[in-house]
Amino acid sequence: MSITTSKNIDTSTWLVLAEKAKHAYQKAHAPYSNFHVGAAALTVSGEIVQGCNVENASYGLTVCAERNCIAQGVINNANGSTVEFSAIAIYTEQEKLTPPCGACRQVISEFFPKEAQVMAVNHLNQQQKWTVDQLLPDAFTPYDLINKT
Ligand code: THU
Repeated sequence: MSITTSKNIDTSTWLVLAEKAKHAYQKAHAPYSNFHVGAAALTVSGEIVQGCNVENASYGLTVCAERNCIAQGVINNANGSTVEFSAIAIYTEQEKLTPPCGACRQVISEFFPKEAQVMAVNHLNQQQKWTVDQLLPDAFTPYDLINKT
């Protein structure tokens, strides 16, 4: 399995990401919506991190699977620089595949290059892929904070 950049995620790597996202799905804490979501992301250094949605009785405090997954990558990051990801898979057991919500698209744009791919996958093995740029064109990113004058 070759894992390097967002440009060459091979089929077997996507399969591993889908499996890890499914595993994370099984941990979802979603007693209010009963809408369970799992995510798994690949870092550029080849690590896979996972996340699930975690809901709260105070509904607005819910955090999506994708953002919890990215937070796991931030926590696990061993080198001093900002963690960077090259792919993320989102697993649900919905016939209609689940794309990332708007808040997650913004957070994905912070940590993924715009050509990186996001894959939605379900229990029927259906899948759809988008680039980060397709999901949030002209995103506001850390680069927009440079050259303030
Ligand atoms: N959810 C995610 O985890 N990811 C998404 O991209 C869409 C929504 C969660 C949030 C909430 O717990 C449940 O799905 C229903 O919105």
